[in-house]
Amino acid sequence: MANLAELKTKFLEQYGGSADGIAVFQAPGRVNLIGEHTDYNGGSVFPAALTFGTTLLVRPREDRKLVFATTNFPISREISTESVVFDESDDWVNYPKGIVWELAQRGIPLTRGYDFLYHGEIPNGAGLSSSASIEVVTAYALLAMEGKPVDTVEISIWAQHAENEFVGVKCGIMDQFAVANGKKDHAILLDCDTLRYELVPFRSGDYRLVIGNTNKRRGLVDSKYNERRSQCEQAVNDLRAAFPDLQLLGQLTLEQFRANESLIQDETVRRRARHVVEEIDRVARSMEVLKAGDLASFGKLMNASHDSLRDLYEVTGDELDAMVAAARTVPGVLGSRMTGAGFGGCTISLVHQDSVERFIAEVKEKYEAATGLHPDFYVCDIGDGVRQLKEEA
Ligand code: GLA
Repeated sequence: MANLAELKTKFLEQYGGSADGIAVFQAPGRVNLIGEHTDYNGGSVFPAALTFGTTLLVRPREDRKLVFATTNFPISREISTESVVFDESDDWVNYPKGIVWELAQRGIPLTRGYDFLYHGEIPNGAGLSSSASIEVVTAYALLAMEGKPVDTVEISIWAQHAENEFVGVKCGIMDQFAVANGKKDHAILLDCDTLRYELVPFRSGDYRLVIGNTNKRRGLVDSKYNERRSQCEQAVNDLRAAFPDLQLLGQLTLEQFRANESLIQDETVRRRARHVVEEIDRVARSMEVLKAGDLASFGKLMNASHDSLRDLYEVTGDELDAMVAAARTVPGVLGSRMTGAGFGGCTISLVHQDSVERFIAEVKEKYEAATGLHPDFYVCDIGDGVRQLKEEA
């Protein structure tokens, strides 16, 4: 994580004054191990928090201004606590602004102004939830600074709502939830319908999780994400002929779906729905094999997940497919799949620790030959969710 002394120096260069009142907060990025495009269908997901993310330094002001700056880009903004509106040209600042707006909607208007300095370590547009990390760290920090109760489940719901309604991206709850509630060395089994969750120790023995960044940027808003969501709603509509009260695809068992999928009129919509219901089943099967310590079977489920996202849900694209295909040729790889929304972004692979170096070298070479793009790799540890760094403040 970030060097705090350096960040404090940058904060004082930007804002002046003394370091006394500066509070420091951190939120991670996330990687999803399995359960993709299931969250907004009320299904289950299995993400984990990363050990890198966003560090936020914040200090109260005497007036009612909010000043947002980051070490990552030259874009900074100054607004008043009373006029918080979405503005495309405000770029990343719309995420923290969305949180300020959300808190006001929830009856927690800010009582004073603040200076903010963000330091992001998550590659932008990589699908590792840099935006959820900014949202969650901002919500946590503002609640703490305003002396309000800080509940990390509530924070994830509020942050998702802000992203849906203020920023206008209709994401599910997975990213904000993982960033807010992650725990070192644990993955989170989350039922996105009820928000019941379980922290599952992720024991990978001699195997490591390796993230591969295709460096093909993925834009959620511009992508087909919202189209997939409406196709799922269309499937629910058609299936209501058999299940009049059906709200979300995740409420059906695999058997119920299979017996009734012919009710879905459109062939493409039917394939989308099949992915969702089968993927939810794969999450359940993953829990069984992981509890039995059977990593090889978990790897096969990861592979099946990717293949379904490629063939049925059609959200992978040439770059993710090329990287996954290359990963699967390396000895010592149990499974490899895309993670996150798709359309570019990252893959996650389960690789024997003795093969990690070879994995990186071979996947890099094959991926570059196939796409002409240069990938990055992160051997991944699972970290904690959002928190205040009290001793440092
Ligand atoms: C993005 C969204 C999540 C989830 C994934 C796909 O990361 O923000 O809510 O839908 O895509 O699983």
